[in-house]
This record gives sequence, structure tokens and C-alpha cells, in this order.
Amino acid sequence: MSEQPKIAVIGAGCSGITTIKNLVEAGLTNVVCFEQNSEIGGNWLYSPKKSHSSVAETTHIISSKKMSEYRDFPMPDDYPDYPSHKQVLAYFKSYADYFNVYPYIKFDSKVEQIEQVNQDSWQVTVNGFKELFDFVLVCNGHHSVPMHPELPGAFTGEYLHSHDFKTNKPFEGKRVLVIGAGNSGCDCAVECSRVADFTAISLRTPQYIVPKFFLGKPVDTFNGNMQWLPSPILNVLQKASLKIQVGSYSNYDLPEPDFPVTKAHPTVNSELLYKIRHGNVHPRPAIIKIEESEVTFSDGTKERYDTIIAATGYKIAFPFFSKEFINFEDADRIPLYLRMFHPEYPSLIFIGLVQPQGAIWPLSDHQAWLASHYIKGSWELPENVKELAEQEADDIAKQFLKRKRHLVEVHFHSYLKKLKRELS
Ligand SMILES: Cc1cc2nc3c(=O)[nH]c(=O)nc-3n(C[C@H](O)[C@H](O)[C@H](O)COP(=O)(O)OP(=O)(O)OC[C@H]3O[C@@H](n4cnc5c(N)ncnc54)[C@H](O)[C@@H]3O)c2cc1C
Ligand SMILES: NC(=O)c1ccc[n+]([C@@H]2O[C@H](COP(=O)([O-])OP(=O)(O)OC[C@H]3O[C@@H](n4cnc5c(N)ncnc54)[C@H](OP(=O)(O)O)[C@@H]3O)[C@@H](O)[C@H]2O)c1
Repeated sequence: MSEQPKIAVIGAGCSGITTIKNLVEAGLTNVVCFEQNSEIGGNWLYSPKKSHSSVAETTHIISSKKMSEYRDFPMPDDYPDYPSHKQVLAYFKSYADYFNVYPYIKFDSKVEQIEQVNQDSWQVTVNGFKELFDFVLVCNGHHSVPMHPELPGAFTGEYLHSHDFKTNKPFEGKRVLVIGAGNSGCDCAVECSRVADFTAISLRTPQYIVPKFFLGKPVDTFNGNMQWLPSPILNVLQKASLKIQVGSYSNYDLPEPDFPVTKAHPTVNSELLYKIRHGNVHPRPAIIKIEESEVTFSDGTKERYDTIIAATGYKIAFPFFSKEFINFEDADRIPLYLRMFHPEYPSLIFIGLVQPQGAIWPLSDHQAWLASHYIKGSWELPENVKELAEQEADDIAKQFLKRKRHLVEVHFHSYLKKLKRELS
């Protein structure tokens, strides 16, 4: 046992638990997972108070049930197509139970610092206590540290980030402006519109809003079945299917995207379009000026708001690394081999640091599977890992629109295929 490499796993969210499961299954049992919370689940551990979790009381997943399963653990038959956050957490708990990962987790253990020592080991500091490890697998998630916008003026009303949006109750009878039409922005706008006096959503750039079902099936399973087609044909088909479902975005007073569907992270939401056409959510262009509670938009409209909800995304943050060591937060490219391996630190591995056009945890599962083989020595990094990592960062820049939110974007199916190919 003592000859086994000592492995630290940072975080017991859905990436961390599958990492432990894969390591142990590969016979690597000298594993300690540090989790700052007192329960597993990470983002899916809903709390009505401020916490790591960014889910709201009413959140349902946007990746459908069948596309959101670990590779050897199906979701219960009685789950709906798009389970609620409670069901998702229950699924993660039953996975953790079934694969007996709990004994490897130290709860209430916030990692304060990770430093490289002597090239080949890592010193992890938790609650002031320092411990050395041979490998560090980073699974701390990238949807919990809010990215705030720079507002063009001082807003004197109430301001919050979507990370802190828990329920629509505080917004009853108010005039609410949501910034951003990603999945958070559209969820917040739809929920607020049920109780607010007036709800608007401001888009600085066009965004595809994709309804959750197509031809009676979850939209991602439909797209999944077409993956054998060459991407130019796939793009035309996806655009045509959206045209059939949605028509023109201008019919909803939304800006028309002038790029292929697959070039941006999709917003999957059936209710937003419905709420717009019912006059419950009002689309607005970019904000150009704010004076006290008055907001001016780029089309000249001026409106007063009680609340601004900035649904402007999240930072890729590793507070336990010194900024001189690794700083992806301010980076404009993230060159990691297979989105996991840092070319300069081969014993430091990132799991779940991907933003798929699909679900994250099946990808984390496959990444952890590959990482286990790597640590065991049954899979090796290529010699030109640095060059390949740089190439991947270049490919991301080519495949997706140049936006901060796309720095770790991947196409679910092709990325999964790539991971599987490594071990076939
Ligand atoms: C509202 C919302 C809805 C989403 N819906 C979907 C969806 O439908 N499908 C999908 O695939 N993805 C979705 N996502 C993306 C989401 O990030 C992933 O589903 C998933 O939570 C990622 O898992 P993770 O384990 O990598 O990170 P997390 O779930 O964030 O877990 C990270 C864990 O690390 C712990 N941790 C962090 N820092 C430390 C530290 N210093 N020391 C110790 N422990 C630490 C945290 O407490 C947490 O338990 C959604 C995101 C949001 C915000
Ligand atoms: N129900 C669900 O399952 C659900 C709910 C919420 C989130 N999620 C997931 O969680 C992740 C994060 O989603 P998110 O919506 O929070 O973030 P996101 O995908 O990064 O979207 C952020 C949005 O804010 C806009 N924005 C960013 N900075 C801005 C600024 N300074 N001014 C104006 N607009 C700005 C972006 O527009 P630009 O494109 O112009 O930058 C984009 O529309 C995604 O993976 C998402 O799928 C899922």
C-alpha cells in the first residue's frame, strides 16, 4: 500500500466523486479527497443561503437524463427527461454510495494552498495542516466564482449576481433587469417574470435560445443521433431544425445570431421564448449608461429598475494556487492536453475543467478513467504534450466564438470520442 502513489483530489462534486471511483477501481487506493462542504454534490448541493452552489430552488438540468449519466450508472427509470437539482443530487449520492467513495473523503476540509515541492510532489494545506502528495487532481468546479460586469455608471438599486439567485420571492412586484442570456440569465428572467412587476433581459451579443425538445425528444439526444454527419451538414440541419421550431429570433425581439449554432455555448430554454411572446419578459439590447436607477440601452430606451441581476458567467478560479503559478482567471487561452494535463506539471491533472455542449459529469468520468491509467502507468503522455496542448487551445479559438466563456468549451461527442480513443 505504501508504494502506491499518494493522490489528493480537490473537491467532491460530481467530478470529484467519479475521480475517486475511477482511481479506486484502477487499484489506486492511497487517495484523500478534500471537500470544503460537509456533503458531496458541489454545485448541486442547493442552499437557500450563499454557498458554493449556483443552482436555484427551481433549477432543472439542461443536459437531458440519457446524456447526463456516468458511463456505468444509469439514472433511475422514473426520472423525467430533465431532472430537478434535487434528483440530480440524489443520483450523485447514490453513485457515491454504490461505489463506496465516502471513506476517501475528508469533509469540512477547505484546501487553502497547493504548492509544488521538489519538482515531484505537492504540498496541500488544509486548515493549517500540510500534507505531501505525489499527484493532485483538481476538481473544484468552474461555476461558483461570479464574474461581475463593469457597469457603465453607478446603479443605486439592488444588485446581485445570478450565483446568489436562489428563488424569485425577493423580486415580487419589482422591476427587474437581467444581464446576459446564457442559461443562468434565461432561468433568472423566466423565474422573475412569474412574480415581478416587469422583467427585462439585456443581450450585448446574439445568442441561440434552443427549446428543450425537438420532435418530442430532448434536443441533445436528437443532436446526438446526428453526430455521424459531417459538421457543415450538421450545422445546416441544426439551423434548419431551429428555424422550424423557433422561426426567426427577430419575432421575439431578439438579435439574430450570424454564426453557426455549434460555435457558441447554447442556451437551452423553452420557457424564455414563450414568456417573451406572452409579454412577461422584455428583451433589451446592451446597456450603455446607468444613472442611479435609470438604465439607458443602446437603442436609446431609458427605463427605471429596482433590481439588476448580472447573469454574466463565472471565473475559472483556483484560489489555492498562487497567481504566479497558475492563473487561468485572467488568461485568454488555456493550453491543457486533452483539457486535463498541464504540460509543465505532469502530476497535476484537471478534471471537469470543460464546458461541453452537453453534460459535464460523463466527461469527468472518462477523464478520471484516463487519469487513473496514466497514474498507474498503463497510459503515457505523448512527448510533444506542450505542442499538442497549444494546438488544442488554438483549435478552441477556431471552433468557438472568441469569448471568455468559451475558453474551456468542447463539443461533447467529439471530445468524448477523443478520450475513449486514448484507451481503446
Ligand atoms: C445553475 C447551473 C446549472 C447547471 N446545469 C448543468 C447541466 O444541466 N448539465 C451539466 O452538465 N452541467 C451543468 N452545470 C455545470 C456544473 O458546473 C456541472 O454540472 C457540475 O456541477 C460540475 O461539477 P464539478 O464537480 O466539476 O464542480 P462542482 O459541482 O462545482 O464541485 C466542486 C466541489 O469542489 C469543492 N471545492 C471547491 N474549492 C474547494 C477547496 N478549496 N477545498 C475543498 N473543496 C473545494 C466544492 O465545495 C464542490 O463540492 C450547471 C451549472 C450551473 C451554475
Ligand atoms: N438550468 C441549467 O441547467 C443551467 C442554468 C444556468 C447555468 N447553467 C450552466 O452554467 C454555466 C454558466 O452559465 P451562465 O449562464 O451563468 O454563464 P455564461 O454561459 O458564461 O453566460 C454569460 C452571459 O452573460 C453575458 N455577459 C458576460 N459578461 C457580460 C458583460 N460584461 N455585459 C453584458 N453581458 C455579459 C454573455 O454574453 P457574451 O456571449 O456576449 O459574452 C452571456 O450571454 C454554463 O455551462 C451553463 O450551461 C445551466
